[in-house]
Amino acid sequence: GTNFQLKPHSKIPKPQKPLLVVVLDGWGQAADDEYNAISRAETPCMDSLRESRPEKWMLLKAHGTAVGLPSDDDMGNSEVGHNALGAGQVVSQGASLVDKSLETGQLFNLDGWKYLEPAAKEHTLHLIGLLSDGGVHSRYDQLWLLIQGAAERGVKRIRVHTLTDGRDTEDGTSVKFMEQLQKDLKSLEGKGCDARIASGGGRMITTMDRYESDWNVVKRGWEAHVLGEAPNKFKDPVDAIKTLKKPKEAGGKPVSDQWIPPFVIVDDDGQAVGTIQDGDAVAIFNFRADRVVELSKAFEYKDFKQFDRKRYPDVRFAGMMQYDGELKLPKHFLVPPPAISRTTGEFLARSGVSTFACSESQKIGHVTFFWNGNRAAPFDSKLETFHEVPSDQNIPFNEKPAMQSAKITALGIEALKSGKYDQVRLNFPNPDMVGHTGDLEATISACSTVDKCVKELLEAVEEVGGSWLVTADHGNAEDMVQRDKKTGKPLMADGQPRILTSHTLNPVPVAIGGPGLAKGVKFRTDLKEPGLANVGPTIINLLGFEAPDNMVPTLLSA
Ligand code: 3PG
Ligand code: CO
Repeated sequence: GTNFQLKPHSKIPKPQKPLLVVVLDGWGQAADDEYNAISRAETPCMDSLRESRPEKWMLLKAHGTAVGLPSDDDMGNSEVGHNALGAGQVVSQGASLVDKSLETGQLFNLDGWKYLEPAAKEHTLHLIGLLSDGGVHSRYDQLWLLIQGAAERGVKRIRVHTLTDGRDTEDGTSVKFMEQLQKDLKSLEGKGCDARIASGGGRMITTMDRYESDWNVVKRGWEAHVLGEAPNKFKDPVDAIKTLKKPKEAGGKPVSDQWIPPFVIVDDDGQAVGTIQDGDAVAIFNFRADRVVELSKAFEYKDFKQFDRKRYPDVRFAGMMQYDGELKLPKHFLVPPPAISRTTGEFLARSGVSTFACSESQKIGHVTFFWNGNRAAPFDSKLETFHEVPSDQNIPFNEKPAMQSAKITALGIEALKSGKYDQVRLNFPNPDMVGHTGDLEATISACSTVDKCVKELLEAVEEVGGSWLVTADHGNAEDMVQRDKKTGKPLMADGQPRILTSHTLNPVPVAIGGPGLAKGVKFRTDLKEPGLANVGPTIINLLGFEAPDNMVPTLLSA
């Protein structure tokens, strides 16, 4: 077994005062621009960290292969970002593993598919997930390979339940994806496979809640996908989303793909074409965990009290991956998930370091579950405190861009001053959550707010004599417009800039400081392509230990 006891650092003594670690979710670095919400915001604190501190501020790769994604065309995201930060290692992520398994056809030889196959052939195969090419939770090409593979293996009836995106993709693209899926499914007719779209809805109000922020979201999805019940019934799915996207008032904005109300597809008699019945096979085709854990529970747990399921069909159920390794949820999965072990969290807990980790509901799992290698429980509950601040429900985050940042800041300061913790780790969701709405003005406000929070926190560190590390998990707010890949110029549609709601490929800053920082500690300059994973061993060093040898190099020279 691994010896998790870390060795004292040869030069950096164990600090007497706490280390503050702040993750600014979705805070990337890009040139000043009118669509850069960060450069447009009032950010005196973050500006001062960047300017005139050349040895204590640098940029990190936060996308693509540096964080275990299939290619450098893949934008970063919070799951892989926090995995890398906390693991101190680059791990092949879900997207890469599913790609490989589908490319080789291996997926269809594994236990998960073998479990689904008889039910899928005898009855219906239902596929539920995000209709997108974002590569954050799912990808269309993977869905299509899965469908084709199932049809080739003799599945005769397929029903797809689609959550529309507009968050990891440009808003409005749901129409194009739905048309594509409809056309692709139709092409299976000739091969004797009856494949149809059965239900759907926008991801922010249908099915894809996370960290139990609002179970009603999942309830709506259950009703649409399983029961065939929704306020909106259509015969044609493309017609459904085109209609549901129409502005609520004349001259208003179209409804965002993320917020399309749930709908059910019905036949000429008004009967839902794809309710989920006893004996059916059901698979979720998202590879990312956070937004499908709740739905998985609704399918898997006989005793389930979060909402009244009304009817609980006896199905064979599997996830694209296992979404929670400790809960073994779901029991059956198509592709084995990445194994992330020997993380900074585990080493530090086993070496007696106490930690306070805090964010609001929307991101609490990011600084705990993802940070600790997809593990929800503390390694040592005596040493680790996880504090969740409840997020607002039912309001789009651009309407309240400050979100719960004041509470998170206050809790962070309290923890720093309490003398109880060696490490205080916080995530501020604002640049990301507000950035995803595509609302530039609100995102600017979110970034100004977060900058003030960082300032207050650094002052508290100053007061107690501690040290700090400020970084981010991926870019988002620093670029709010779609750009021509070659020229970098904003893309326009009907004289309007095409808003970018998704994450970016940009690097993120990392900065260190504080009175408790050991003398002579600074960033090294010899690493070729430093990325988020290098932060893990850096934190271990700042806490006075040598990093273990399974990790990538530290960012520090000491
Ligand atoms: C989401 O789930 O909200 C987005 O798809 C990705 O955002 P995150 O990776 O920042 O959580
Ligand atoms: Co995000």
